[in-house]
Amino acid sequence: MLILNQVTKQFGKFMAVDHLELNIPEGLIFGLLGPNGAGKTTLLRMVMGLIRPTSGSITLFDRYTPTDSAVREKIGYMPQQQAIYPGLSVLENILFFGRLYNSRDKKMKQRADEIIEMIELSKQRDKQVSNLSGGMIRRAMLATTLIHRPLLVILDEPTAGVDPSLRIKFWHWFQELARAGTSIIITTHHISEAVRCDQVVFLREGKILEKGTPDALMKSYQVSDLEEAFVKAIEEKERDREMAV
Ligand SMILES: Nc1ncnc2c1ncn2[C@@H]1O[C@H](COP(=O)(O)OP(=O)(O)OP(=O)(O)O)[C@@H](O)[C@H]1O
Ligand SMILES: [Mg+2]
Repeated sequence: MLILNQVTKQFGKFMAVDHLELNIPEGLIFGLLGPNGAGKTTLLRMVMGLIRPTSGSITLFDRYTPTDSAVREKIGYMPQQQAIYPGLSVLENILFFGRLYNSRDKKMKQRADEIIEMIELSKQRDKQVSNLSGGMIRRAMLATTLIHRPLLVILDEPTAGVDPSLRIKFWHWFQELARAGTSIIITTHHISEAVRCDQVVFLREGKILEKGTPDALMKSYQVSDLEEAFVKAIEEKERDREMAV
């Protein structure tokens, strides 16, 4: 579904993404985990075709590059920062994004209602976004991401600033989407919740520290929480680096 071949992004001399090699199969929830500045958003922006790699190549859906126009309608992107119109209602935003994505689906309104029901936004459907709480805004953003039935949904910290019980709901929706065949790439700083991913990579300084299923990673670091595995992976690499100096 997504193949990264030696993908590198340099900003001046700074290497934000460093020769990444990844093959993400379809229909999975794939977690991209790493500290601030690890290169997660930069990588996602390259996959979205918003910026170009300095070197290396990205292949999507077996045959496309990120800037191919055929790719746009197949991807749904929920950015890290708030990206929704505060002056429009929840429904108006969803329909607006549907049109942006060239959704010619005559049943777009029906699809919008289905999503509103799934994300439990019925009561907020006609409310102006500026009057919603932070958590509700994140929900509405997720809804706008799904209107054009994307094959791949890219979620950059969708649960940032979301309370624990709503975070559980978010993961329930992600799992529902994956069950229906949608591929999901997600970043989060709530590492423990990423245990619900099918596969994860730990990224730091633009490089992959570890990858695998959450279970395999927890087993290999002999811990019962993915966050502990993540911290240990970072500490181990830090030690390796010190010894190499
Ligand atoms: N347009 C840019 N110009 C220069 N440097 C950039 C640019 N975009 C990102 N960077 C740098 O690249 C590095 C990776 O940034 P990125 O936003 O990808 O990190 P991230 O893993 O998403 O972090 P966070 O968890 O804080 O969102 C950072 O050091 C950042 O300052
Ligand atoms: Mg980021």
